[in-house]
This record gives sequence, C-alpha cells and structure tokens, in this order.
Amino acid sequence: MEMSTELAAAFNKQITMELASSTAYMQMAAYFDAANLTGMSAWMRHQSDEEREHAERFLEYVLDRGNQVVIGAQEAPPAEFSGAAEVFAKALEQEEAVTASIHDLYRLATEAGDLACIPFLQEFIEEQLEEESSVGTILDRVRLAQDQPAALLLIDSQLGERDTTE
Ligand SMILES: [Fe+2]
Ligand SMILES: [Fe+2]
Repeated sequence: MEMSTELAAAFNKQITMELASSTAYMQMAAYFDAANLTGMSAWMRHQSDEEREHAERFLEYVLDRGNQVVIGAQEAPPAEFSGAAEVFAKALEQEEAVTASIHDLYRLATEAGDLACIPFLQEFIEEQLEEESSVGTILDRVRLAQDQPAALLLIDSQLGERDTTE
C-alpha cells in the first residue's frame, strides 16, 4: 500500500539526510587522515558506510511501498575543525538531528494511521539510541584526553580496532 504524499516526502527527506550524514562522516575521515589519526579516520569511514546503508534501507522501503524515490540536495558538510573534540561534537550534533528527524517521521506515520511504517521506524529509533551513546562516549573520552597526545593516540588506536562486521 502506497504511503501518503506527505509521508513519502518525509521518507525521501530522510534518505537525503542519511546520505548527507554519510558525506559528513567521509569529510571527518579525511580530516583525521590528514592529521595522521588513522584509527579515528577508519572509525569515521566505517560510520560513513553505515549511513549509506541506512539511506539504502530507507530507499528500499519507499520502493517497497510503491512510492517514488526522490533524493534531494545536500548541503556541504563542515570541513574545518579545531581538533578531534570538535569533530566528535559535530558528529553528536548530527546524530541528534537524525534522531529528531526519525522521531518526527514516527509521529507523522502514527498521525496518518500508517501502521506499516512503525516496525521499520522502531528499528531506527533503537539504532539512534546506540549511535548517540557511542558517539557521546567517544566525545567524553576525547575531551578527557585533550592536550595530552599520548592519551589521544591511545583513543585513536582503540577506535581503529572497531569491529567492522557490526
Ligand atoms: Fe543513520
Ligand atoms: Fe548514524
């Protein structure tokens, strides 16, 4: 069953947002690469891949429902950062914006009585809880390490060990 025009537009907006998020993480990966923080760069690349997968899942969902996929324009992501703490602070802001957007989608689907959307969106609501928590933890640790290169390098190597099968 097709979604309402309004709901389909909101799903399309979400596809664009996940792609923008993927691009922003790629930019952050490049920043860390240039700073030789290779673990943080690898973590960001992995994050970027995950956001692209989210975009694809939303895209497939729109198609499954019989609606048209229309990807919108993206704004250029931030490219200048004062250091690792600012990068992760921006990443957290981004995740919070995505969470708010998915919550809006859920409310819209509920108000429209479109119950078929609920299980799909529920998964992403849970995913966002994890995303905010993991980025928030890294941000706190990077802030603790500030001005101590040895501590920052330790976090960097830990992030480089992120399990890419998750
Ligand atoms: Fe996402
Ligand atoms: Fe995310």
